[in-house]
Amino acid sequence: MTPPDTVPSANPPIDACLGEGLRIGLFDSGLGGLSVLRALRQHMPLAQLLYIADSGNAPYGERDDAFIAGRALAISDFLLSQGAQVIVVACNTATAMAVHTLRQRWPEVPIVGVEPGVKPAVAQSANKRIGVLATPGTLASDKFKRLIEIHGQDVVIVPQPCPGLAKEIESGHLDSPALRALVDAFSQPLRQAKVDTVVLGCTHYPFVAPLFQQALGPHVRIIDTAEAVARQTQRVSGDLPCLQAPHAEPTIQLWTSGSAAHLAQVADRWLNLKTQVSVLR
Ligand code: DGL
Repeated sequence: MTPPDTVPSANPPIDACLGEGLRIGLFDSGLGGLSVLRALRQHMPLAQLLYIADSGNAPYGERDDAFIAGRALAISDFLLSQGAQVIVVACNTATAMAVHTLRQRWPEVPIVGVEPGVKPAVAQSANKRIGVLATPGTLASDKFKRLIEIHGQDVVIVPQPCPGLAKEIESGHLDSPALRALVDAFSQPLRQAKVDTVVLGCTHYPFVAPLFQQALGPHVRIIDTAEAVARQTQRVSGDLPCLQAPHAEPTIQLWTSGSAAHLAQVADRWLNLKTQVSVLR
């Protein structure tokens, strides 16, 4: 399932599902999906969130489909074994390469994917010149080609692959000279192309949105789909039964295939939420 078509408004509908008693599983190649977790927490503050950072195998953006599909299956299997009732693939690359495999394997489980927000970008761009920042894998995928075929007619789309950027963000230092140099280099062709709207097509990139805003200029609108994904998750969760006793304290459990200490430190700094961190075995 892709994010909803409309640009999300700040307030959820009054009868929105706040996730009481629900267990939502989500994963990313690493820390990037925490941008989706943050939005989910805001929209569904009562849900139990189970998050896997596959940092031991990051970045996904330069891996092949078979590898990513294998990881997506193993991770989703684990999340389901922990009681997840919905799976959110909090990674554009894994969505492009593996969401169909997950839906085939578990047709009864609601599976929410993320994709670059080209449609809202087209709606909001004044000059109809749009940049898309994403991993090489996402931009080369058939899913992205279809997205452009459907929504990219009559506009200029400038895809900008960002090899190495997710890996640099994984370090957790969001203001390093190396990170700034990458952001500047990837912004340059978009400045030249005079785009007025730029899509963050990787869940890692919202954490460096201020750097992109600086490099692109204040007149450029930056589009992130985390909120739209959270609202879509809210929508598909509405009819699910509560497994947990309602009123159970909503916890956030994080697992990583990399360093638990690093994940705990970064999650604390980026989210400012109480989390429990374990190593994924
Ligand atoms: N966060 C991921 C995405 O949304 C992948 C980054 C990577 O591992 O290359 O595409």
